[in-house]
Amino acid sequence: MKTIIFVLSFTFLIISAQREQEIVNNRIVNGQDADISDFPHALSLLDLGRYICGASVISRNFALSAAHCLARNAPPTIYTLTGGSTNRLVGSIVFHVINYTNHPQYRTIRLSTGQVIWDHDVSVIEIDGNPSFEGHNNVRPTLLPNVCTSDCCGVCEGTVVTIAGWGRTHLGTIPMILQKLNQTIVNHESCGPFWENEITDRMFCVTATFYDSCDGDSGSGILNIDRHNQLGYVSFGSIICGDGSAPAVYGRLEHPEIRNFVREISGV
Ligand SMILES: *[C@@H]1O[C@H](CO)[C@@H](O)[C@H](O)[C@H]1NC(C)=O
Ligand SMILES: *[C@@H]1O[C@H](CO)[C@@H](O)[C@H](O)[C@H]1NC(C)=O
Repeated sequence: MKTIIFVLSFTFLIISAQREQEIVNNRIVNGQDADISDFPHALSLLDLGRYICGASVISRNFALSAAHCLARNAPPTIYTLTGGSTNRLVGSIVFHVINYTNHPQYRTIRLSTGQVIWDHDVSVIEIDGNPSFEGHNNVRPTLLPNVCTSDCCGVCEGTVVTIAGWGRTHLGTIPMILQKLNQTIVNHESCGPFWENEITDRMFCVTATFYDSCDGDSGSGILNIDRHNQLGYVSFGSIICGDGSAPAVYGRLEHPEIRNFVREISGV
């Protein structure tokens, strides 16, 4: 699947030389350089030392990511989390994973286009506490939302949210410097048709025209505009990030099935 996505992206870049010109100098996808002190929850998730996804600090020993990042039944010890540094490769603190738990209802959905998307796409990751997430500059938990029993509480249409992550650029490279982006939540009903009506209440959608999250941002925290509360995590989006063909889709933390699961595993 990865290969297919890559080939598709690559083909697109060749066909669309014009567009490549527009995006070649921009980071994922047209975000801005961020400073870790503004996003101290932001972590990189590494698989045998290789960057695969983003994650967020939620307590002393627990982090949150997307389940599809950790869905190959690998032993927890192949994963590490790094954080505390704007530059992914310089000055990061390494945290050792001892356990991770994907949502029991985590599920893969294959669209008619062949693209795979996910529901209940959340994983709670536990570190060994040596070191823990406490006592470092620029490593700090987010505040998680309360359970919401109506249509939307913190993630209603028109709300502007902030994301930071090290997801890859259009040309396939993972940036060294943390990138940030503001996006606007779009109406749930209008988002569904872009995704073969597979958008559930465990998800919310944001505008992804030009500015977008991308491959490798998966699992990164979505915060409210003052950056204190975490509202969600990056789940999936258009294969050609930022092409505007479909809204990006994020996991919705305030949903009872998501929020209660996170609390059950992590205690927060
Ligand atoms: C996001 O919006 C906030 C509030 O308006 C602003 O302070 C911040 O600079 C914006 N961030 C980006 C990446 O545009
Ligand atoms: C991992 O976490 C799950 C869920 O909390 C728990 O049931 C399991 O015992 C944990 N495994 C280890 C080795 O701690």
